[in-house]
Amino acid sequence: MNSNIDWGNLPFDYYKTKYNVRAYYRDGKWGEIEICSSEHITLHMASTALHYGQEIFEGMKAFMGKDGKVRVFRPEENAKRVQDSAKGIMMQAPPTELFLEMMEKVIRLNKEFIPPYNTGASLYLRPLLIGTGARVGVKPSDEFLFMIFVSPVGPYFKEGFSPVSMMITRQFDRAAPLGTGKFKVGGNYAASLTSMEKAHAAGYANVLYLDAKEKKYIDECGPANFFGIRDNTYITPESESILPSITNKSLFEIAQDLGYKAERRRVPLEELETFEEVGACGTAAVISPIGKIRDDDRDVEYTYDAPGKISIELYNRLLAIQTGDVEDKFNWNYLID
Ligand SMILES: Cc1ncc(COP(=O)(O)O)c(C=O)c1O
Repeated sequence: MNSNIDWGNLPFDYYKTKYNVRAYYRDGKWGEIEICSSEHITLHMASTALHYGQEIFEGMKAFMGKDGKVRVFRPEENAKRVQDSAKGIMMQAPPTELFLEMMEKVIRLNKEFIPPYNTGASLYLRPLLIGTGARVGVKPSDEFLFMIFVSPVGPYFKEGFSPVSMMITRQFDRAAPLGTGKFKVGGNYAASLTSMEKAHAAGYANVLYLDAKEKKYIDECGPANFFGIRDNTYITPESESILPSITNKSLFEIAQDLGYKAERRRVPLEELETFEEVGACGTAAVISPIGKIRDDDRDVEYTYDAPGKISIELYNRLLAIQTGDVEDKFNWNYLID
């Protein structure tokens, strides 16, 4: 373990570690896994990643358990999401086996950067897939680089939950109705930057996006999915333009396991006033309880009990599964001795 790191005060940011792992797809096949200590990539100036947005990334976490075993939360789901995203923008994704082998390797190589049990910190894993082939006309690449780097990150909420505020906007869309919103591609994040910065400048944590076509339904909250709770029911939007969050999918199952109902369906904007609790969910924070949603265009403000009782219960259960504190009855954790 690296004794120079102040585990309790790590930000959620890039932290230089020792190694990253890389594999290249060339001539129709994936090459050997390469271990690399450089933080840099040499890239052709005409590569499709730079010109036509052939770029996909993932975010996942590994936790040190009380038993000294490292647990990675549902990595097969991230591997599948890379594959789905790759199909969506004409790229080659690593097969699940290669994805997992590289993941295990990069964790073992950087074991001194895995935060100890009970510090609230974790090892964040960032898989990245880019088109490396040179193209001038708009065409997909036939060469790709897949790599994973890691970064120890602190707990999202250092002093317990702090509820966030969200801003509804109709001036910007993050993704088109039949576009790439359901894929984890860089372009979606570029499309969200202006609205996100406007939200920050106005004192909000992020934007709550409405569906791009009709602006009638809730989509998602910046880089996190949305859920609302009413009458002991976990309700989350069904939409073609949101990222299928692994955290959301897991909370959906945990809610039912805890005896609540769960619904995935379109969520009309009007329903916001009926929720008892609302939250944003994703790998970084698990759950960010939302205390306020402001709809400037209509001069309406929704306020909520935050953190609400059920959100806390869901959060605690998911985190306890991730750290190995409760039984992993869904078999979600990938264990590394
Ligand atoms: C746009 C968007 N929605 C939702 C999520 C949450 O997904 P997950 O729970 O898989 O981290 C993320 C983060 O990956 C995201 O970037």
